[in-house]
Amino acid sequence: MSDGPAPVLRAESLVKTHYGEGAPAHAVRGVNLRVRQGEFVAVTGPSGAGKSTLLHLLGGLQRPDGGSIWLDGACANAWSEARWAMERRKRIGIVFQFFNLVSNLSVADNVELPALLAGTSPKQARAGREELLAELGLAGKERSMPGELSGGEQQRVALARALVNQPPLLLADEPAGSLDSKGTREVMRLLSRFHQRGQTIVLVTHDARLASAADRVISFFDGRIADDATLDGTPSPRTGISGVLELRD
Ligand SMILES: Nc1ncnc2c1ncn2[C@@H]1O[C@H](COP(=O)(O)OP(=O)(O)OP(=O)(O)O)[C@@H](O)[C@H]1O
Ligand SMILES: [Mg+2]
Repeated sequence: MSDGPAPVLRAESLVKTHYGEGAPAHAVRGVNLRVRQGEFVAVTGPSGAGKSTLLHLLGGLQRPDGGSIWLDGACANAWSEARWAMERRKRIGIVFQFFNLVSNLSVADNVELPALLAGTSPKQARAGREELLAELGLAGKERSMPGELSGGEQQRVALARALVNQPPLLLADEPAGSLDSKGTREVMRLLSRFHQRGQTIVLVTHDARLASAADRVISFFDGRIADDATLDGTPSPRTGISGVLELRD
């Protein structure tokens, strides 16, 4: 066993297979992972590698077929849906790859809702929302409905929503996937600030610029961790197979 406090997040032997039309998809095939408090971990890898599935398992949105997850040393195997939902309100912020905004709520209400559900006063929820939307270049969009926003704008609203409760752990799936370089920089700045405050981030991204903001890069390939490199300036010998250096646009 390692010394010090329990990792914020720990997974052992995680396995998840999707059974849909056609052949089963072995999305996660035995993943062991420990994330310490305050770490900023990027998970990168090709499309279909299982990155989103892994993130969904870590946030309790899907259940593993095998293996275990611990949050702050507490084993989550027996947690009910309600318990997971509570954990997501209190200590896990999640940004989904495809936003998942509530379509019939305004931008302001989408961002404030998790704060209100967690018991924050309406005044504080509003202040938090105003600050986040301003930081993300969305001031003036409060009254818009999600359907009236561009993909990149929706993505930033989803990030604001995940951050409004200042969760100790942020799980973010391609939070800059539809953004131009200015939007990507805004997201990077916000993630860095979040990280500097000591919050822990697990970020799935194809974007090498975003991954380079992390202190550790995990390369996910075919349902497994192919490489796990702490970014101390030393390139990992195995990054070549795993897409860490894959650059888009
Ligand atoms: N709900 C589902 N039902 C059936 N198959 C699924 C489901 N979700 C994912 N899969 C399959 O599992 C594999 C991993 O998918 P996943 O979405 O985790 O990949 P990813 O690494 O996030 O890809 P991308 O970079 O394109 O987002 C793929 O083969 C995918 O088709
Ligand atoms: Mg994905």
